[in-house]
Amino acid sequence: MATKETSGRVVHLKVKRQDSPEKPDTARWEEFKVPYLPQMNVNSALQQVQRYPKTTEGKEVAPVVWEAACLEEVCGSCTMIINGRVRQACSALVDQLAPNGETITIEPMSKFPLVRDLVVDRSRMFADLKKVKAWIFLDGTHELGPGPRESPEQQEERYPLSRCMTCGCCVESCPQFNDASPFMGPAVMNQVRLFNLHPSGAMHKNERLDAVMGPGGISDCGKAQNCVEVCPKEIPLVDSLAVVARDTTKRMLFGWLLK
Ligand code: SF4
Ligand code: SF4
Ligand code: FES
Repeated sequence: MATKETSGRVVHLKVKRQDSPEKPDTARWEEFKVPYLPQMNVNSALQQVQRYPKTTEGKEVAPVVWEAACLEEVCGSCTMIINGRVRQACSALVDQLAPNGETITIEPMSKFPLVRDLVVDRSRMFADLKKVKAWIFLDGTHELGPGPRESPEQQEERYPLSRCMTCGCCVESCPQFNDASPFMGPAVMNQVRLFNLHPSGAMHKNERLDAVMGPGGISDCGKAQNCVEVCPKEIPLVDSLAVVARDTTKRMLFGWLLK
């Protein structure tokens, strides 16, 4: 039996499920009760559900589907809404969420297309990263010689920006990021700043700025600042939005001089 408890303590989970995007009629909440284990997090609680997929009423169901890879808050794949807050399942500790056995609610992110249960399709973020060329251009076909050096000060400024794991927490919380708007969101703007700061990346700075001066660009940000509140990597997103806004304004006003 799934909930054979050695310590007697159990963890209550309430999971929002849906079989597929084409089957909205299968949307439902299911409740599970799993044995408590020391240091348990939501990911390990879901693993227990997966092992013994039986609801609290004793009904056998299909195992809950979710994504996870690194299990150390680095890949972003286990991002979901836990007790109403968007975060990673692998770092959401049961002891903190339900110290007195409270029910933990788990839902998929709402701003991306649903795939199944807790899995969503975050492709939109990756497509937007392509639009802004969020990479350093390197041509490996011939000897380029040494690249420009990056100073320790530049490295220090860039490092916090580089910690983004494209998890989607920021866009989930952003009122401007939705199906009706092409806004690329704060993570993408932060990558524009990151790569424009890099001495080699700066060679393509204007292409990135042009990309965020168009539809879905920086001017769509409503400055609500929800994004910075939820970023698990504490990336200074509001600063990045301000830097990109300043740079695009400069390009708009003086870009013609550089053509
Ligand atoms: S900026 Fe923060 S919240 Fe947004 S995708 Fe990157 S790590 Fe996640
Ligand atoms: S400041 Fe507000 S509107 Fe702008 S990206 Fe962040 S959450 Fe979205
Ligand atoms: S599994 Fe990678 S962030 Fe949770």
